[in-house]
Amino acid sequence: MLEIIFDEQKKITSTVKVVCIAENKRINSSKLSKEDNLLLQQTAALNGFCGKLGSILEVNCGKNKIVAVGCGTKTSDHDFQIIGAKLFNVLYKIEQAVVLVEKISANKLLPEEIAHNMAFGLLLGSYRFDKYFTQKKAEEYPTLERVYFNVQGAKQISENFKHYAALANAVRYAKDLCNEPANYLTPIVFADDIKRLEYLGLDIEILGLKELREHNFNLLLSVSQGSIQEPRVAVIKWKGNPDNDKWDLALVGKGVTFDSGGISIKPASGMEDMKQDMTGAAVVVASLKALALQCAPKNVIGIVGLVENMPSGSATRPGDIVTSMSGQTVEIINTDAEGRLVLADCLWFVQQQYGAKKIIDIATLTGSIEVALGGVYAGLFSNNSKLNNDLISAGQKTGELLWSMPLGKEYNKNIKSNIADMVNISKRRGDACNAASFLQKYIKDGVVWAHLDTAGVEMVNNSQSSTLKGATAFGVRLLNYFINE
Ligand code: BES
Ligand code: MG
Ligand code: ZN
Repeated sequence: MLEIIFDEQKKITSTVKVVCIAENKRINSSKLSKEDNLLLQQTAALNGFCGKLGSILEVNCGKNKIVAVGCGTKTSDHDFQIIGAKLFNVLYKIEQAVVLVEKISANKLLPEEIAHNMAFGLLLGSYRFDKYFTQKKAEEYPTLERVYFNVQGAKQISENFKHYAALANAVRYAKDLCNEPANYLTPIVFADDIKRLEYLGLDIEILGLKELREHNFNLLLSVSQGSIQEPRVAVIKWKGNPDNDKWDLALVGKGVTFDSGGISIKPASGMEDMKQDMTGAAVVVASLKALALQCAPKNVIGIVGLVENMPSGSATRPGDIVTSMSGQTVEIINTDAEGRLVLADCLWFVQQQYGAKKIIDIATLTGSIEVALGGVYAGLFSNNSKLNNDLISAGQKTGELLWSMPLGKEYNKNIKSNIADMVNISKRRGDACNAASFLQKYIKDGVVWAHLDTAGVEMVNNSQSSTLKGATAFGVRLLNYFINE
């Protein structure tokens, strides 16, 4: 893994120096020699480089190289993280480099903030999922081992950076889980993987088939029953504030390790992406991992429902009626609307069993939210305006953007059934909103709750990104910021 070193010693030398350049300002870095500044000014003028956000200029001078990165104006923490990630793609074929960090004119961020954000971005940008290539192309394989940050106050920055390194570790962990194919990452394998996190001081309980039946996880079991893969539910506890016996927050995640749609089977095209229908669960588990690594002084409980949704002779049929753990009955009209079924029992369980009073669930729940928000924002549904606003702010801060969507009793009529308490899909359009009001039926009075529908933001594809198609782990940074605020 890429090593990041903060140091204020001038003597760190590297053949590759990186400098941050403000937009439309005269280039003059106090950390470069007069000659280097001159060379950079001339090359920038020749190439029309003016420090625009995200632009990169590489200047070769003999054995040495200067990489100028454009830092734009009003550049935020998250922008600097993106700059860091871009920088990785420029540096990945060398062994080491030094980033010279100083105050950037007209930018309100301090050098230490610039340094830790860029370093965080470098760590995230270095992520690869290449374990299944039997022959790696040497030219594609990163050789970058170390990046120094030459910056004032390096000792303190190194200390503070532990928080970000922990978060980067958690994001990478979530991405690994999401990118793993469903023949390897079955519910049992996923649960075993989660159990291994106990070494961090997390308390982890795995519920198997017997326990799930005893506790009446009937909706969750109805999703799983068509698959030969046994379901699991994992309950993960982080007690960072042992003096308090209450939970500050509960996180609930959808962990459908593969969503074929079941008997209401999906079309073939794009179905392979449904291996990532467990992103919500991965984000919840990774969030708890981050809290443990950061020794966060909060009590957070996570619960994830791990199932595979398959068609078979034992699968749930459209029209079946199932009694949920809460006692409410559901007429399952479409077996592809399975995420809300898995979540409903998990939501009920965490309130009933653990007395959760504040809950955030996260799920790749509906294609409809992607239609509405274009894969840019995730949908946020909440019964509490403070929670709603705090999550929106956390989204803006971390670049994992949320858009507030409607939630209310008005939607209940859309999910009325003629012969049971509710249906799992509506005849009306706007499935994301109908799904959220379905979930609200499993939230007790007085419980503060938000539902994040992350379908459409859980992965990037080739047309959107120069990096490979793969998981974004959307939600890990957002929830970490929210919890630590
Ligand atoms: N897992 C899907 C939602 C999804 C879609 C996630 C695209 C990621 C990307 C969910 O279980 C589903 O299949 N929803 C159906 C609901 C429909 C049957 C009402 C959908 O959106 O098509
Ligand atoms: Mg589905
Ligand atoms: Zn699904």
